[in-house]
This record gives sequence, C-alpha cells and structure tokens, in this order.
Amino acid sequence: MRTTFAPMEGITIYCYRNAHHKVFKEGIDYYYTPFLSIYKHHAIKKRDMREILPENNKDKGIRIIPQIMANEADEIIWALNDLYERGYEEVNLNMGCPVGTVVSKNKGSGMLLNPDKLHEIFSRVFDEEITEKIKFTVKTRLGLENSHEFEDILPVLNKFPFGQVIIHPRVRKQMYQGTPDMEVFEWAYENSTNPVGYNGNIFSAGDYADIAGKFPNLSEIMIGRGLVANPALAREIKTGEHITFEELKEFMTELQNCYKDEIFADESIMHKMKEIWFYVGNLLEKEDGTDSDPYIHKIRTAKNIADYRNAVRVIYNECRIRNL
Ligand SMILES: Cc1cc2nc3c(=O)[nH]c(=O)nc-3n(C[C@H](O)[C@H](O)[C@H](O)COP(=O)(O)O)c2cc1C
Repeated sequence: MRTTFAPMEGITIYCYRNAHHKVFKEGIDYYYTPFLSIYKHHAIKKRDMREILPENNKDKGIRIIPQIMANEADEIIWALNDLYERGYEEVNLNMGCPVGTVVSKNKGSGMLLNPDKLHEIFSRVFDEEITEKIKFTVKTRLGLENSHEFEDILPVLNKFPFGQVIIHPRVRKQMYQGTPDMEVFEWAYENSTNPVGYNGNIFSAGDYADIAGKFPNLSEIMIGRGLVANPALAREIKTGEHITFEELKEFMTELQNCYKDEIFADESIMHKMKEIWFYVGNLLEKEDGTDSDPYIHKIRTAKNIADYRNAVRVIYNECRIRNL
C-alpha cells in the first residue's frame, strides 16, 4: 500500500513538491502533479509544462505522477505517449474535479455523467499499445449527484486493465464538504477488478490506520488537505515522529525561495504563502499555550509585504507546535 500526495491545483505545484520533498520526504512514495490540461491540438499548456520538466523535478529521488485532464480518447492517447517519451511510467486521469467550468465541458467529474461515453473512450485508449507500456490510472468520484451512480460506472472501469482506480468517495455536488460515502466505497473495493486506491479526509495518523485496517488490500492511500495542513503527516504515519517547529520554518523558507524564482512579483508570492499559512496555522499555539489564531489572522489580513513579514516574524518568535 503506497502513500501519495494528492494533486492540488495551485498548491502542490513543483515549488511546493520540491520544498516538501526536501524537508518531509519520509513516508511519501509519489507526488501527483496538479492536473495538466491537454489541448485538442495535442499540446500541454505552457504553464502546466513547468510541472513535468525534468529541471523542475530534480530533487534527489522525488517520484512524480503526472495527472491529466482530458475527455477525448485522442487527447488521452497523445498524452500517454508524450509523457511516456518524457520518461514517465505512470499517468493518472482526472475524473473527479467538481469545478463548474470543468464539469460543463464534460471533463473531471463531468465525465461520470455518461458511462456509455466512458466505455467508448476507454475502449479506444486500451486498443493502443501505449497502455501496455505505461501504467494508466484514474482518480474518480462516485458520481455527480448521488453515490449510487457508481453502480453504473464501476462496471465500465472493470472492463479495462487500469493500473489502479483511486476513489474519492464523494459526489460532485458535495465539492469537498460532507462525509465520504464509505458504504459505496466498500462495495467498490469489493467489486473492482482493478487495484483500488482511497482518497478523502485523512487528517491524522489515526484516520490513516482506520482506512488501512478496514481495507488492507488497497493499492494506495492518497492524502491532500491533511498533508498540506501537516506536512509531516506521512512521516508521522510511518514512524510516529511529529513535525518540529524548525522543520516547519525550513519548509516555509524553502517554499518562499522557490516561489521567488518562479513567480517574481512579491505580492503574488505573498498570496501563495498566505494560502499555505492558512493550512498550517492549525499546527501552532503561542508559547504560553494559548491560541495562535490571532497571529495567523494577522498573516491572512496583511495588506503588504512589510505587514506580512512582520506577522511571520511574530509567529517565528512567539509560537511553537501545539501538542499533536
Ligand atoms: C485547492 C484544491 C485543489 C485541487 N486540485 C486537484 C487537482 O488538480 N486534481 C485532482 O484530481 N484533485 C484535486 N483536488 C482534490 C484533491 O486531490 C483530493 O481529492 C481532495 O482534496 C480530497 O482529499 P483530501 O480530503 O485528502 O484533501 C484539489 C483539492 C483542493 C482542495
């Protein structure tokens, strides 16, 4: 059972992955890229290309799985071939994105609307020799409106030899809210002819142990928000070792330095860093044991770089990791 860092658009971009791998690699077997949009005329968006270029993924030993967003057989086949030629051994297809502009183009979770069309697409893809060379996996939700839609989707997936079917047991309309439907997940786990991976709401080592205990034959447990909120979570799961404040500082510094090379404008870097502080803020408390929320609030509301830097300095001087 491997442990992976979920794709998260705008967050787990290559700067983040490299900084994370440098400081917290233990426990993470693979990092997914956020979805790469595949154009109809067979190209990957320039911005997305940065995610897969070798020079941006050279932290020693880092293993990357590109995720693609496409809903036509031709585009998928092209992307599999292209990524294989670039040296990637595994590619994941996004069938879970709930965002309106994606779903309205029948991409992401929009692909789940029509199981017959899915069958048509995958029949063509698996006719191609490339699927014997590269591990092709999907990441899917259970449906758009209702988890039971998966009863029509899984039989389609079962007809093809996917490397893995990773299930985030929510439906599109839930976005990231509400609870995963573990009953339908269990049915899928028992009835999938392909290896099954699990994704959703793993926020602690205990959550991980529960899922791994209930579903011992999972091929993968994928973690997203839980890892952004506690970047050492995978190590904690593996060895029990909690994050230290020094590690968190080192990670935030690495991240900021990479953003400087990539993003240039200080304001934009600040926005990116604020987003990460929003997640990791929960790890902290003031040194006297009281709530650090007011300090995190200062970061979130900083209007300029000077305010932001001051707010970070106060956290570095006056906070510590709370009892996890
Ligand atoms: C900000 C954000 C961006 C995301 N981007 C992607 C993405 O590019 N591709 C994808 O398959 N899922 C994406 N997801 C979904 C996550 O990969 C994951 O399925 C979801 O957060 C549930 O897992 P978690 O509870 O461990 O976070 C995104 C989620 C968030 C919150």
